[in-house]
Amino acid sequence: MSQAGPLRVIAIDGPAAAGKGTLARRLAATLGLPYLDTGLLYRAVGRRVLDRGADPRDAVLAEAEAKALSARDLERGDLRGPEADFAASAVAAIPAVRAALVAFQRRFGEERGAVLDGRDIGTVIFPDAPVKLFVTASVTERARRRHLELLGRGIQADPAQVEAEIRDRDAQDANRPVAPLKPAPDAVTIDTTALDAEQAFQAAIKVVELTLYTTGR
Ligand code: DC
Repeated sequence: MSQAGPLRVIAIDGPAAAGKGTLARRLAATLGLPYLDTGLLYRAVGRRVLDRGADPRDAVLAEAEAKALSARDLERGDLRGPEADFAASAVAAIPAVRAALVAFQRRFGEERGAVLDGRDIGTVIFPDAPVKLFVTASVTERARRRHLELLGRGIQADPAQVEAEIRDRDAQDANRPVAPLKPAPDAVTIDTTALDAEQAFQAAIKVVELTLYTTGR
């Protein structure tokens, strides 16, 4: 299947550990589109601020680091884990940091089309994307998956603490004044609580096919 048309962008938003990344990667591979995990941009900015021994809530420093971000920063091996999670969420609440990262994301999507996942792709970055998915799951299920993922990477964690951290990050991402996490009015929600990765993919591809059908793109 291939998409033709002016803006071949698939926007995937949703809270942490809902299955966005797995789904986005598979959609991109199936449709032959590039994939951008936009959370990595915020993670890398947060890391750069931490490298300076500074507080990721420092708006002036975080903006400077966002402007200085390079492709190499996205390849760092320390962009995951609780410290990086919180630094990312903190810098993501700073309007000037978000503004500094908009152009990169739009350029990426406009070049050849793309699947992008994040929190504000369908609401802010590509409000005209032909396909918008909001991928979510219950907080208990997301905490269970994140805990398993940490174990898989050899990191021991307390399940209750993992759930508490997910709740904190949800609150921070959803309650910030700029580009808060929320579904675009025209997004299709996929609740993956009771779905495995294959079922989530099947649900998503149906939406994509229907959109291509109805818009002729
Ligand atoms: O998707 P993720 O967990 O890797 O994202 C890390 C943090 O970055 C998350 O707490 C919210 C923020 N983020 C954002 O505000 N906007 C995006 N488009 C992507 C991520």
